[in-house]
Order: sequence, then structure tokens, then C-alpha cells
Amino acid sequence: MKVLVIGSGGREHALAWKSSQDDAVTKVFVCPGNAGTALEEKLENISLDLNNFKEIADFCKNENIALVIIGPEQPLVMGMTDFLQANDISTFGPSEAAAQLEGSKTFSKDFFIKYGIPTASYAAFDSYNKALMYLDEIEFPAVVKADGLAAGKGVIICNTKNDAVSALDSIFKDQAFGEAGSSVVIEDFLEGEEASFIAVVSKDKIIPLATSQDHKAVGEGDVGLNTGGMGAYSPAPIVDEKIHQKIIDEVMTPTMHGLISEGSPYLGFLYAGLMIKDGEIKVLEFNCRFGDPETQPILLRLKSSLVELCLAAINDDLESHKIEWTEKHSCGVVIASQGYPESYESNKLVSLPNNDGGEIKLFHAGTKLSSNNEVLTSGGRVFCATALGDNLKEAQAKAYNLVDQVSFEGAFYRKDIGFKGIK
Ligand code: AMP
Ligand code: GLY
Repeated sequence: MKVLVIGSGGREHALAWKSSQDDAVTKVFVCPGNAGTALEEKLENISLDLNNFKEIADFCKNENIALVIIGPEQPLVMGMTDFLQANDISTFGPSEAAAQLEGSKTFSKDFFIKYGIPTASYAAFDSYNKALMYLDEIEFPAVVKADGLAAGKGVIICNTKNDAVSALDSIFKDQAFGEAGSSVVIEDFLEGEEASFIAVVSKDKIIPLATSQDHKAVGEGDVGLNTGGMGAYSPAPIVDEKIHQKIIDEVMTPTMHGLISEGSPYLGFLYAGLMIKDGEIKVLEFNCRFGDPETQPILLRLKSSLVELCLAAINDDLESHKIEWTEKHSCGVVIASQGYPESYESNKLVSLPNNDGGEIKLFHAGTKLSSNNEVLTSGGRVFCATALGDNLKEAQAKAYNLVDQVSFEGAFYRKDIGFKGIK
């Protein structure tokens, strides 16, 4: 059986690597992939135009692809799943309509209210002046969010009214996020501890994946600019059994049923970004895909087949699927290019560890191969050094040991990934 993974990040390296572990899988194509997926056994990078769904469908037919897994949000929000499914290609990922949960903050906030899903109070505006006037009515800190996809950068925490005015200026006047900033959500600032709750969903059936916690801020102790995520670990002790059940009852179940009532039942990974405080949960955002870097530590813990899990969801057979995890803990540390999440340099030569595999795995993200097969940096987040251990402390030590074996000019990483799980 052949699989196609769409995307090029650390998440996609992990999805493709995990898919390739099945004996039944002979080949995993990754489009466009990175140096890590180019070097991996059974994996092959393929260059197709991701905006040309017909080209992708033709490739799937010619290669007899049994499963397509779409990694990033962009092609999902653009309707790649709808197109491939209409061409009878077995595709794992939500429809364009269901992906609006991530694609539009206004859509998702309105959806939360309609279906009674706990979230921060908010107001939405498509006019600069009205948004500006609203700032007189609220307390600070508050959060200003560009409506559309902004690669994790469209959320601005504003400590003062002045900060919020600057945020509105940059979104509406400077159009810092382009079309994604044609409207904004302004919401209450929530305190607490964040967790990522990710599940495989098919209509009203759900298989929650192992819990995890990301580290969004660029600096140690969670300070500095927000990034796509600087590291993650699994399981996350903040999501105890009681909170887990509450998330299922108050967030995931009403979301699945809400989408069915809206005529767009969900298929794919569904990711709720949550704020947890004093046993209460609120949804910060939904993502219509697996998290990056959460995928890397979570999949290292998955013992059963990812391909069978995705196919069970597509074939409406989640109820009979059995998912298996190792009891071990995992930790993934992102190695980034100096300057990220702002501007950074690329094309730096990388020196890699001699071997990895088994319980220690270096997932590539922003890397590419040079013409003479050297690994060069090509992105802000370059690697995620991921390891299993008997406890989080051991997993963390092994992940940092792997980090120490990777070098390139300007490499940096947070030295405290997992600290909340250990304290
Ligand atoms: P989002 O893309 O909406 O998840 O926002 C990205 C990050 O911004 C979240 O992971 C939080 O760290 C932070 N954030 C978003 N909304 C809020 C909020 N209402 N209160 C506090 N922090 C927030
Ligand atoms: N790690 C956060 C995200 O994938 O959105």
C-alpha cells in the first residue's frame, strides 16, 4: 500500500515516518517534504503544485495511493480534501467547510457561542473605527486576533489600550496579515495553563490521542514572542482524568454534533487549544490538523498503526479501532534559526548525529538537501529532537542529549521544554 503525506514540516516528517513503520506500507510519498523525509527509508519526496488539486489527484490515481494524509491547515481550508474525496481518493482531513473552525476566528467564536462551548468573551469587527471604539469599553490585558490564517502570528496580547491600538493599526492599516486581517476578534485575556487536546474524529466518533503541552513563546519561562511552538511533551499531567472527561463532554462532543447540524461533519485530526484554570476549561482556538510540534512526541508514543487509524476514521469504523500507546513519556525540543519567529537566515550547513531511531528521533522541519546531498537549513523551525523516557525527566534529558549532537550556525532552542510537567 502507498501513502501520500502533504506538507514539509516536522509534523509531516513524523506522520510519514510513522506511516512507513507498517509492514503493509511499501512507500510513503511526501509532498514537498524536507531533507529528513528525503533521507528516510521507504519515503520519497515528490514535487507537485499544492494549489493544483487536479495534479495531486492525477498523481494519486497513477500511483494507486491508498491513503492521503494532509498535514497543514492551508490546503485543508482551501478544500483539498473535498476535491480528492470527490475523485474517490481516500483522504484524511476535514472538508473546507469544517476547516473553517481554524480558518476563521469569527466563524469559530460564533460556533462556540451557538453550541455552548466554553470560551473567552469576545466581539468581532470588520471596521477599524468600530473596533477602536470598543477598546474604550473593555479592560486590559485583552487579546486582538486577526480573523484568518496567519501562521500562528495573528494573535496579539495587549497589556494596555495603546498596545491594542497598535495591534489594530498593524492589522487594518498596515495589513500585516493581508486578507487574514480584514476582520478581527477582540477577546478577554485568559489566565491559566495551556494544553493541547488532539483527537481523531469521524462524524460523532472520537479517539482522543495522548495528551500534550506545547511551548508557544520563544523564550525560556514562556516569555517573548509567540511562535508556532518551541517544543512539546506527552503526556501532560495538567489534563488529569477529570479534565479529560470535561474536555470530551464540554468541548469535543458539542463540536462534533454542532458540525453535523451545520451539515459539515468532521473527519481528521481535531485540535483544541485550551486554557485550564482551577479545574475549568476554556477553548482558545481550534486547529483542523495535528499540532506541530505536538505530533512529534505524540507519534513517538503511538504503538499501533497510524495508517489503520486514519483508514478506520475514513471508513466510519473508529468504534472498532484499538489504539495503543507506550506508557513511556516523550519530549520534543525544537531547534530553530536565530531570529525566528521574526526574520532569520537560511542555507546553513547542518552537522547531524550519526544515528537515531527507536526511542530517540530527530525530526526535520525547515531543512533541504543541497545538490551534493548535504543538509541545509531552510526555515525558522529546523528540527525537533524527540525522545522517550521512563518519566518526563528522562525523556527530556535524552532529547537534550540529541539536541547537543546537532549543530548549524545560529541554532537556538529553549532549555526548559517540559518544565511545567516536572515542577
Ligand atoms: P490562538 O492562535 O488563538 O491559539 O492563540 C495563540 C496563543 O495566544 C495561544 O496559544 C495562547 O498562548 C495565546 N492566547 C490566545 N488567546 C488568548 C486569550 N484569550 N488569553 C490568553 N492568551 C491567549
Ligand atoms: N503547536 C501549535 C500548533 O500546531 O498550532
